[in-house]
Amino acid sequence: MVDLERLERPESEVGALDVQALRRQFPILGERVHGKPLSYLDNAATTQKPEAVIEAVANFYRHDNANIHRGIHTLAERATAAYEAVREQVRRWIGAPSAHEVIFTRGTTESINLVAHGWAGRHLEPGDEIVLTVAEHHANLVPWQVVARRTGAVLRHAPLTEDGAIDEDAVCELVRSPRARLCAITGASNVLGHEPDLRRICAEARRHGVRTLVDGAQWVPHAPVDVGETGCDWLCFSGHKMLGPTGVGVLWGRRELLEQTEPLLTGGEMIRVVELDRATWNDVPWRFEAGTMNIAQVVGLGAAIRTLEQIGMARVQRHVRAVTGYAIERLRALGATIYGPLDPTRRCGLVAFTLPEVHPHDLAQWLDQEGIAIRAGHHCAMPLHAQLGLGSTARASFYVYNDEAEVDRLVQAIEGARAFFR
Ligand SMILES: Cc1ncc(COP(=O)(O)O)c(C=O)c1O
Repeated sequence: MVDLERLERPESEVGALDVQALRRQFPILGERVHGKPLSYLDNAATTQKPEAVIEAVANFYRHDNANIHRGIHTLAERATAAYEAVREQVRRWIGAPSAHEVIFTRGTTESINLVAHGWAGRHLEPGDEIVLTVAEHHANLVPWQVVARRTGAVLRHAPLTEDGAIDEDAVCELVRSPRARLCAITGASNVLGHEPDLRRICAEARRHGVRTLVDGAQWVPHAPVDVGETGCDWLCFSGHKMLGPTGVGVLWGRRELLEQTEPLLTGGEMIRVVELDRATWNDVPWRFEAGTMNIAQVVGLGAAIRTLEQIGMARVQRHVRAVTGYAIERLRALGATIYGPLDPTRRCGLVAFTLPEVHPHDLAQWLDQEGIAIRAGHHCAMPLHAQLGLGSTARASFYVYNDEAEVDRLVQAIEGARAFFR
């Protein structure tokens, strides 16, 4: 096991991370790409995995592997205990009142779909309003479009402010509408980086009887999260964006709402009694976990949360904001256009930008030749790019193992691209 406590610097630098020591725990960061050392700056797409997560998954298969909730042999009991222990870990991690409110899914997309189809699809009526923003990821747009078509509900989208942030006043205005029933909003935009004031929005929504879902895909990996303080009704996030394995995510929801939610998948494990022509459902949360689940990945998620807890989420946030702030400064000095608010304390760790002379795809390809991984495209936010009048942006995104030196390397490589494409 990695002793992350030892990675921290002395008392005089409390809060600072020893990034070089931390990087050694991520085997892939030692890779070379096109003969150059890898700078992985595509963390908003997925983060890399530390040895502790890789080992947790491998050790599960080496020592504990069995199916869960159904066997009475030793391995089945060990596997079940390991899986259910992560449910409790997640509960603590997000400050939820009960582990019964924590559902394992494949990721944010599935979590949002479960609420959209399992709850909203059954509770919304024609003319009811679903409040969204123009900055949402497709995962928090398309399921609501489908639900609106099915129920006759109407979609309302809050715009951006002049400085390219999500317009929180407009969101609050929309949830005050007498027909508003549900507000589904990002905790941090995967293009603008903006972290809207969720406490304010959720409180306003609650005052008007509007339910709130937070798409936490880019927020939960970057901030200390407490669902009680936030005041939302549902929180969705993905393990793979916070050092965990792919194929595992979480839906947290208030117990009374989960009790009113129909499962997306039916079959084995999610039932109480099955007859030939009918069945009754298991208790929450197991009624939402049909079939054989992604057991090893859930165990890996537990190791990822342990790693982040050992670093401390306040320290994660401080570190990533510092690197992001530095990147914004240096990219602006280069003449890049940055999207979203410029203040890094209003952001998660990503910066979407464009350059006058180089198309984002050309830039990403050029940087790849230099060993630097960024993303170019619409980042699954086509309506937002349309609002910005763009087809695509370049996006550099940072996490705990990135530092200012990598930003310098990025900027230097961009200068090379500009000289070439000019
Ligand atoms: C803001 C946001 N929401 C939702 C998602 C979807 O997450 P996943 O693909 O893990 O389901 C992403 C992924 O990039 C995202 O950035």
